[in-house]
Amino acid sequence: MKNKLINIRTEALADVRVAGTIDALEDIRIKYLGRKGALTLILRSLGNVPPEERASIGKLSNQYKSDIETALDDKKNELTHTSSGGMIQKQWIDVTLDRETATARESLGRLHPITQIQYEIEDIVTSMGFEIHDGPEVETDYYNFEALNIPRHHPARDMQDTFWTEDGNLLRTHTSAIQVRAMEKRKPPFRIVGPGRVFRYESTDASHENTFYQVEGMMVDRDITVAHLIYVMKELLKEIFQRQVTVRLRPGYFPFVEPGFELDIHCLICDGAGCSVCKQSGWVELLPCGLVHPNVLRMGGIDPEVWSGFAFGLGLNRLVMMKYGINDIRHFLSGDIRFLMQF
Ligand code: PHE
Repeated sequence: MKNKLINIRTEALADVRVAGTIDALEDIRIKYLGRKGALTLILRSLGNVPPEERASIGKLSNQYKSDIETALDDKKNELTHTSSGGMIQKQWIDVTLDRETATARESLGRLHPITQIQYEIEDIVTSMGFEIHDGPEVETDYYNFEALNIPRHHPARDMQDTFWTEDGNLLRTHTSAIQVRAMEKRKPPFRIVGPGRVFRYESTDASHENTFYQVEGMMVDRDITVAHLIYVMKELLKEIFQRQVTVRLRPGYFPFVEPGFELDIHCLICDGAGCSVCKQSGWVELLPCGLVHPNVLRMGGIDPEVWSGFAFGLGLNRLVMMKYGINDIRHFLSGDIRFLMQF
């Protein structure tokens, strides 16, 4: 019996010595110390041992049991340390390596150029005290036309051909619908911008798309004049282009402003000398705007005797095309990765 015990101990310790994983150690524990383990069986059968040997065999068994447990514990500690050590070796991270070198720039995602310019403009106008508002892309006739002084059957509706939904709503043709929604939410004085995607029933060519992007702007306060409008537009454009811009206003017709303007800027490509971007005129049409029509204020619940305001609608596609010299508006939604990778 004693020899059997000695053999079990020797074998168990040898097993522990060569074990390479924590799982293997657990198997060894079960093999010797588990419910049906070799040592456990001996302890259980102590009853069959002759009484004069029982005490010494019992004592020995318990001592070997604790030897094996200690060996298992020690080995477990050793394995835990070397395996995390192994992990550190394998997953070593060089914190001094900068990301640009580590990862090819081409594999990083990036924002669409329209989104980039939209975020830039949002930064600029919020620094000028404008709040950013939003509106749905599927609009009601009221917000897109009616409340903007374009009643049903008004010929001005022909200026913006529209995608109608079967229930009488439409894909908004301009972000001006956001003006109307903002007037419902804010009491004057206020300044808001509303960036967004707009839709027109257009046949597409290099300068026409059925889906494009605008940023609407509206400021309502006391005694707002065209001078305020021009000042804010010039500041905005100066920040966008990072240089002084020369502007001119031409009369423009939009039923929701009076007077209404087309704001042109001195061509930034040729400095007014005439080039293909400005079609040799020296000027680029950039920004429709005007003073908010009293009817629009009234429908927005604002008293035009007390308050006045200006509004503008900045076309983002045109802006990005100017900035990068892009000659076809259809690139923006083409999803062509060769186009998008350039920004
Ligand atoms: N909503 C007009 C358009 O898209 C632009 C505009 C906005 C004009 C605000 C005047 C004032 O054509």
